[in-house]
Amino acid sequence: MIPESFIQEVLARVDIVDLIERYVPLKKGGANYSACCPFHNEKSPSFTVSPTKQFYHCFGCGAHGTAVGFLMEYAGMSFRDAIRELAGQVGMTVPEETGAPTAQERAQTQSLLQVMDTAMNFYRASLKRSPQAIDYFKSRGLTGEIAARFQLGYAPDDWQPLQGAFQRYDDNALLEAGLVIQNDTGRRYDRFRDRVMFPIHDQRGNVIGFGGRVIGAGEPKYLNSPETPLFQKGSELYGLHQARQAIRESGLVVVTEGYMDVVALAQYGFPNAVAALGTATTPVHIQKLMRQAERIVFCFDGDKAGRKAAHRALDASIEQLADDHSIAFLFLPPEHDPDSYVREQGLEAWRRALDGAMPLTEFLMHTLKDDIELTTAEGRARLVHEAKGVVPRIPAPMLRLQMIRQIAQDAGLEVAEVERAFGLKPSGGNGRGKQAPPRLPRAAVLGPVQQMLRLLSTHPDLVGRLPSDALAMLGDTPEATVLQALIDAHDDGSLDSRSLAILYERWRDTPQENVIADLLQASEELAADSEAAPDILEGLLNNLRRGDVERAFDTLQRRLASGDALSADEMQQYKALLLQKQKLKSGQSD
Ligand code: UTP
Ligand code: MN
Repeated sequence: MIPESFIQEVLARVDIVDLIERYVPLKKGGANYSACCPFHNEKSPSFTVSPTKQFYHCFGCGAHGTAVGFLMEYAGMSFRDAIRELAGQVGMTVPEETGAPTAQERAQTQSLLQVMDTAMNFYRASLKRSPQAIDYFKSRGLTGEIAARFQLGYAPDDWQPLQGAFQRYDDNALLEAGLVIQNDTGRRYDRFRDRVMFPIHDQRGNVIGFGGRVIGAGEPKYLNSPETPLFQKGSELYGLHQARQAIRESGLVVVTEGYMDVVALAQYGFPNAVAALGTATTPVHIQKLMRQAERIVFCFDGDKAGRKAAHRALDASIEQLADDHSIAFLFLPPEHDPDSYVREQGLEAWRRALDGAMPLTEFLMHTLKDDIELTTAEGRARLVHEAKGVVPRIPAPMLRLQMIRQIAQDAGLEVAEVERAFGLKPSGGNGRGKQAPPRLPRAAVLGPVQQMLRLLSTHPDLVGRLPSDALAMLGDTPEATVLQALIDAHDDGSLDSRSLAILYERWRDTPQENVIADLLQASEELAADSEAAPDILEGLLNNLRRGDVERAFDTLQRRLASGDALSADEMQQYKALLLQKQKLKSGQSD
């Protein structure tokens, strides 16, 4: 099985227009592209492709689908091959499809973990025997308590110190764990020699790697474990295991550059720091942190390299943004890193600095406006051009809108004009800019449930306005399942224009697939005005409620009419329903 999350990731990255254009010449018309349908014979084009929805639809023969569906229908690929093909196009590889690790792989991991644990304990014991290494940590202000908390150690000054820790120094596991290096003649020696050691833990607390620092000056300053089956730098963060509880309690995590930053901050009373391991911050790092913290502050060194790291972290963050999380950047004075800062200025100053960190949107605006002369028309046009490559990638609707507003202001344009320039659907709502007059969806032919889903998928911001009983009113139907998914996506901030296409693939070959197909098709025709949309929703909810109330009322009324005696409770209910019916008719919702 290909994991669902992987399929989602692929669909979030591919561009259906790009894909289809390789097979069928497309013509741009309005927001969509069109062509003569490749699935049936026709003279005038009724095949349309929507770049925002990432969906195609033929008004002639009814063919429709996502990028995956297109490859299956047009190129005759299997589902798996289509995913593999698309993944390849966006530079992703389908993860191992073997499912659970084999017994052999598990045993291997187990023995590597044991080897790492043995090494860590050996380095710790060696630290106790090395006055020089102890002095080094002391000179950096660390107490024994913190050294124990981070399991700091020392690799003795010898060629094969680990001989003293393992019965079989020639065990293959030592090589695989990256603890020893073997030269061409087959001779082995320790990777870490005469260095103070920082063990790297996974989230469960297993040691999966090491960083070793020279004592005093020397090159390289830090030596790290190579990537091994246990240790992938792009997804691990130093100190996360130790910081976890503090992060959970306060909702805050600070991402620094170095081992010493993490340890020194903990020493000075700030246990919420982690470090990327000598690599750039990756989207995987950010996803991991966002699951545990509401606020992420990146604080890199004040030097040029630190600024570059901040820009890379910004780039990695864009596609992970969520409206209920905040990401900020703290820029320290050039001579500082978090370690030296907290040591010199103290914990209170550090906390204040964190509170004043620059919000991501502000940093992004600075970055976009860098080098641009906004007093000229050319400069303002360039701002919109630069922003076009970044802002539409923000999946968080509210943050994206905030950015669009700022850009509109700086560029001297209307919000809707910027949205159009970005190829986004106008979000509307502020009454400015020209919009089509309110138009009701085709109310006559559709039931309120379908209408409501259509409305919500065109105006995802309205999902937050649904009353808590909305789901219950739909009962146990495919529509309810779809609505639940929309609500979930809204709540975790992942609802965007591609969500429907992604849900469509999740529900391939189920009744929900048809519900989504209808929504995707309808949303193209449904350009209902944003300002009118909340009222339309309100009306539809009323209709739904009225349907429920009327059914219950009719049942009781029919029994009364046929001479049935109603219990006192039922009589009470009958009166209540009658009242509700009258209220709903007059347009009140409660
Ligand atoms: P820094 O040079 O800023 O080190 O590198 P630092 O953490 O401030 O260390 P101290 O205070 O001098 O002891 C930041 C991080 O980059 C990686 C390490 O993860 C380090 O913590 N790095 C740096 C290496 O992997 N190798 C190096 O040679 C240098
Ligand atoms: Mn430092």
